[in-house]
Amino acid sequence: MEQKIQPAKRIRGTVSVPGDKSISHRALMIGALADGVSEVKGLSNAADPNSTLTCLQALGVEFKQDGELLKITGKGLRGLRQPKTALDAGNSGTTMRLLSGILAGQNFNSELIGDESLNQRPMKRILDPLSLMGAHIEATEKFTAPLKIRSSYPLKPIDYNMSITSAQVKSAILFAGLNAQGETTVREKVLTRDHTERMLGLNTVRAQDSFTTTVQGGMNIALKQFVVPGDISSAAFLIAAGLIVQDSDLVVQKIGLNPTRTRVLDIFRSMGGIIEILDVRLISGEPIGDIRVRSSHLSGSLTLSGALVAELIDEIPILAITAACGKGTFTLRDATDLRHKESDRIHALVNNLRAMEVDVEEYLDGFAFESKNPLIGTKIDSVKDHRIAMAFGVAGLAAKGETAIADADCVDISFPGFWQILHTICN
Ligand code: S3P
Repeated sequence: MEQKIQPAKRIRGTVSVPGDKSISHRALMIGALADGVSEVKGLSNAADPNSTLTCLQALGVEFKQDGELLKITGKGLRGLRQPKTALDAGNSGTTMRLLSGILAGQNFNSELIGDESLNQRPMKRILDPLSLMGAHIEATEKFTAPLKIRSSYPLKPIDYNMSITSAQVKSAILFAGLNAQGETTVREKVLTRDHTERMLGLNTVRAQDSFTTTVQGGMNIALKQFVVPGDISSAAFLIAAGLIVQDSDLVVQKIGLNPTRTRVLDIFRSMGGIIEILDVRLISGEPIGDIRVRSSHLSGSLTLSGALVAELIDEIPILAITAACGKGTFTLRDATDLRHKESDRIHALVNNLRAMEVDVEEYLDGFAFESKNPLIGTKIDSVKDHRIAMAFGVAGLAAKGETAIADADCVDISFPGFWQILHTICN
């Protein structure tokens, strides 16, 4: 489907976004590994968490929708059953990497497959630590999926220094650690999103330049009742729309404000964005609040590099668009990993920004440009990547003329209903 976007006169309203994708995956998995019934409210209805749910169903976990609650009948750490066919993670890297950690220590064999995009994404990052734990996982020659996982219970505990900054890798090791004999430790230099740790109740010790988390093999898991906050990475698109379109005043409700996820708000503010956080409260161990945003004069030179890239990994597409609509320069470096997301996001951003007549210089690990106000509406190739489609959808609101996004239905991966919400707040 092609989505056409017209320049917006204003953005107004109070809206909500789907439940946090990262937390939704983990709620499903932890609920599956818990003993007894857990109840989850606010779970994301997007395609990625749904891939996790169908994989877990194939592993024998039962789910029942009861009004706004999803009831998960957990099987305990050792109660999953061998799936009859390969488990399909679809487009979801989180499903494939985290489930690998869970499946590595089971006493049955399994196979994980993905779609065209996921089958090209790097898996060596999880294969390395999981093999150190004694897991047997066969991948392709390029260390990509399909992943054939052979039963290796019990795993060996490890003490692992993360060489790559990734919450997915950290979580895969922590999940595998649940089926290891003894204590598994993961050390990271930058604290990546810590939802797994919070939800499992793990302890993270902060030293001068490292964060160390330990998990005890065979620990008791309890989820019971859990509320998923709105996804700040999805809200970021609407916040950006409010900032760059004139005469705007928008509230995005019940958004997760976990400190490992809110760097994007700091960056919007550093550009001059007027953002207020209202009514902060703690729900299910995660801070939640409402975000009010108003039209802003954005200016300054923005450089994203080093640790910032890891903290903003999902928000770089919309930050680049926001900067392009302000005044000043934008530079991204140290972001090679962005080439291995749902698409090569550096390439997709550079190509589409150039199509909107921004003069962009591309590097192996990033790109740079001077902002261009207004962007010029044109045809955009989303490369079927949800965050590219949404970022350029927002760009279209502040562009001159019409913008048309190809394969726009890919937004369903993380944000079903995105185009309808955008339409509503523009009227
Ligand atoms: C995620 C971690 C990030 C992020 C992805 C979700 C998670 O990936 O890009 O959308 O839920 O752990 P990496 O950890 O590979 O950077």
